[in-house]
Amino acid sequence: AKDKTPEELQVAYKGILYPSLLCSEATFQALESFEAREDDVLIVTYPKCGTNWSIKILHQMLFELHNKEPTLDQAMLEFGKPEKYEYLKQQPSPRVLSSHLTYENIPKTFIEKKTKILLILRNPKDAVVSYYHFSNNNPVLPTFSSWDLFFKAFLSGDVIYGSYFDYALGWEKHIDDENILVLTFEDMKADLPAELRKISDFYGLNLTDEQIQKVEEKSTFKSMKENSGDTHGKLANVFFRKGEVGDWKSLFTEEQSKELDAEFEKYLAGTKLGEKINY
Ligand code: A3P
Repeated sequence: AKDKTPEELQVAYKGILYPSLLCSEATFQALESFEAREDDVLIVTYPKCGTNWSIKILHQMLFELHNKEPTLDQAMLEFGKPEKYEYLKQQPSPRVLSSHLTYENIPKTFIEKKTKILLILRNPKDAVVSYYHFSNNNPVLPTFSSWDLFFKAFLSGDVIYGSYFDYALGWEKHIDDENILVLTFEDMKADLPAELRKISDFYGLNLTDEQIQKVEEKSTFKSMKENSGDTHGKLANVFFRKGEVGDWKSLFTEEQSKELDAEFEKYLAGTKLGEKINY
């Protein structure tokens, strides 16, 4: 797919860019009437903030409890053909679903049913560095000829899934909703068992300490990277790159750091969601 131009690899829908090889207008339309269930697990993230990590955690938690794999995550809710929703309709609960859609664009029934939503945030400096490498190494995403160009596109929201800040501000308004749990990539790195306990409590899973420990072992970066050939095939190294906090320092110039600080200050400083981000 890298023989396609950047323009061919992205498609706009309601003002936001999506990967054209994975998303289509037909799927977005079918998604509008998606029937969420009260007991679905919905994981929401801006790209590169810990999607695959949190999906693995929920899968492993349900595996520890029921000794069987939950419904296969159909990649992102918004990827694929409209028929996938017919398939999902037939799957038993709990379904583990994930999405990069904004609060405004997730199917309304998730809100109506008060489905429990897990929102994972990550410091935008690390997210943009991760996203830059991902864009250039994932064949379905546009290639950027330099870090500087990607950084500019990220700041202006001219990347797939749009602006990090718009995304964050959309969820900000709902941060106190009781059906939304907000965790961060950095807190998960610092003390994974503590964050796993929060997830277990939020979903009422009542995992024992032993079960939490098993989930922890299976969801470390090392363990997930080791298994990534099976789970992610050819894209294994693209999805499991470094898994660290602070890698932004490898690419950011001092000026870029100040620029992002200013954007953070402008949009998120003083907001409840901003406080949660380990900035
Ligand atoms: P890096 O590019 O900084 O390494 P997503 O799953 O949302 O696409 O996010 C991908 C980022 O999460 C990548 O960051 C990846 O390495 C990191 N990651 C994936 N699994 C992880 C884990 N178990 N622990 C820590 N980081 C992980």
